[in-house]
Amino acid sequence: MGTTAAAARKPSQQHPSNRAELLRRLADARARTDELFGIVRPEALYDRPIAERHRIIFYTGHLEAFDWNLLGRRHFDLAPFDADFDQLFAFGIDPVGGGLPTDTPEDWPRRAQVDAYNQRLRDMLDEQLAALDLGDDRFAETARLLNVAIEHRLMHAETLAYMLHQLPTDRKIARADRAAPLSAPAAPRMVRIPEGTATLGLRRDAGVFGWDNEFEENRVDVPEFQIDAYKVTNGEFLEFVSSGGYQDRSLWADADWNWLQSSGTSRPAFWVLRDDQVFLRTMFDEIPLPLEWPVYVSHAEASAYARWAGKELPSEAEWHRAAYGTPQGLERAFPWGDHAPEPDHGNFDFARWDPAPVAAYSAGASAFGVEGLLGNGWEWTSTIFGPFPGFEPFAFYPGYSANFFDAQHYVMKGASARTAACFLRRSFRNWFQPHYPFVYAGFRCVTHESGANPTSR
Ligand SMILES: [Fe+2]
Repeated sequence: MGTTAAAARKPSQQHPSNRAELLRRLADARARTDELFGIVRPEALYDRPIAERHRIIFYTGHLEAFDWNLLGRRHFDLAPFDADFDQLFAFGIDPVGGGLPTDTPEDWPRRAQVDAYNQRLRDMLDEQLAALDLGDDRFAETARLLNVAIEHRLMHAETLAYMLHQLPTDRKIARADRAAPLSAPAAPRMVRIPEGTATLGLRRDAGVFGWDNEFEENRVDVPEFQIDAYKVTNGEFLEFVSSGGYQDRSLWADADWNWLQSSGTSRPAFWVLRDDQVFLRTMFDEIPLPLEWPVYVSHAEASAYARWAGKELPSEAEWHRAAYGTPQGLERAFPWGDHAPEPDHGNFDFARWDPAPVAAYSAGASAFGVEGLLGNGWEWTSTIFGPFPGFEPFAFYPGYSANFFDAQHYVMKGASARTAACFLRRSFRNWFQPHYPFVYAGFRCVTHESGANPTSR
């Protein structure tokens, strides 16, 4: 659709099928998070799998309270029926610095109370949404807030998976995973990306939903570089660990080294050592370390590995260029082209609970032949999370991004197996602090040696 034509229309006339589509997406997202809470054994609901986070019970209320506070109270102006719960479940916590939470299970309401609250507000919201008038001047704003509610819930579907991953397996009800696609072992190689332009962000007049940090569109000139064709695997990272990488002070930035010492970290958080053999903690099991799967590590560990390998992490713009650029100069909507994501493009949209071999998704390769960019684990970049030129916070959620423009968070691009398909849009930016080891995030490296002659397809 031409953006000029779209902008010329009245907002209420845009995308006439939006209402049915948005309501379907909301129902799907609710089913997704209901299903996720379903893997928690009832006796584990008040557990706190990660010390810096809330107990699981908080999140069962939070997903609903968020929708209710945003849509029910703020947008539809409905009267609160339980203002204490609205407040109690309003905000999560971000584990940067500060002390650990000290609440006890008894400080939280019983499950039946939370379930009753959730059901009542879903019913009240659904009644409002069923009566939505497409001709209403407020429909465009309603659609935007619905997108916020849906995407907020789907983001939690992923970050809750990080949290439930750390819940002991006997506190979970195991689900079968779909088999990982078979692939030949990846032969590590680097791909040369010629100098060119990377277009980051979204145009405000494009009529497309994006979070505040995705605006405004901006173009960056990217000098030539080389990038790994695949994500770094567990097998490659094992060499770094075995060669003493976690003990070599020279590989770590000061803050990263301090974190390493204070946390006692000596291997990736997903790795478990049993009788000198390395196992991987999957969502529902522990298995011998799959050497062909991408390693999941913190930004600090990724950076140390890159230094050890004589390489660096890519910048956000370099990652864009490798993913969406083409030798002809045009940029694509997705690495594989302009058509919508399909299962063979990558391990995303809840395809699996766990990763798959790095070379298993060649159909998703970029125009330059870089593989596995979307799915199978987010990828750390060297770019500190900050606003694009023209950034404006959402009035209804001013701290969503701006609270994290603190030079303490790094941009991640890509997606994991538990990332919903809507986040595969080019402009979507994820971010995390560099010492949080429970994210489904790995990395690939770049070099900037001019005249280097990496193997290229
Ligand atoms: Fe939240």
